[in-house]
Amino acid sequence: MHEIVRLETVGSTNEYLKSLAKTARGGLVALAEEQTGGKGRLGRSWLSLKGQGAWFSVLVKDGRLCAENAAGLVFVCALACAKSLRRLCASNDILVKWPNDIVLHGKKLCGILCESGFDGEKLCYSICGIGINLLSEHFPGELPWATSVLAETGLKLDPLSVTEAFLAEFDILSEKLYNIGLAEILDELRPVSATLGKTVCASGPDGTVTGLASDFAPDGALLIRTREGVQRVNVGDVSVRGVMGYAD
Ligand code: BTN
Repeated sequence: MHEIVRLETVGSTNEYLKSLAKTARGGLVALAEEQTGGKGRLGRSWLSLKGQGAWFSVLVKDGRLCAENAAGLVFVCALACAKSLRRLCASNDILVKWPNDIVLHGKKLCGILCESGFDGEKLCYSICGIGINLLSEHFPGELPWATSVLAETGLKLDPLSVTEAFLAEFDILSEKLYNIGLAEILDELRPVSATLGKTVCASGPDGTVTGLASDFAPDGALLIRTREGVQRVNVGDVSVRGVMGYAD
């Protein structure tokens, strides 16, 4: 069960839940109308203008949460976003760009930032932050690959309904992650992947790998077939530029 706290303005829903994480119950959701310091992956910021999207985070505190499952939550979130948005928009063109961007018509609709909290070595909680662009019609020049549900489909979705639809899928998929394992989630992700089968360029601290994105490894890493053989790239290490152009 999820309690949804609705906030008019907050710095970041991820940070808000982090401040409550020690005492709050697992399942708590913070849904903001506006974020003044929205956080993106790889240290970037996330534009979260008032009333323009579903900006929310979920606090996950579950006895079955371990470092391995926390890493799997990234894929659970991506799949839950894709499934719920596909249903709400009646569009099978909504895809997951590895590791966890949701794209439509080659542009980014939604981003996901999962963070975990530790007590020493022990993982205590994860926070899954989701930003779905719903109504924005214009993005600043530095975000040429961003889009919204309205811009792509003409639909005006309401942030609370989108959050609830996400949560319904998230609950089913996280149970699958805990009870069956990440393989089950990756099996569902393959058919909705915008990345597999495409030529990609992964740039990380150790340089650049270009080749065909051939599969996911059992831990969710991306396997890229290059002339030198198959190379793996890990979530968090790299930006992947695919045929759709943008790097996340
Ligand atoms: C990305 O870079 O693609 C991830 C963006 C994640 C944005 C969401 S909006 C709700 C939550 N709160 C944040 O500060 N970030 C996430």
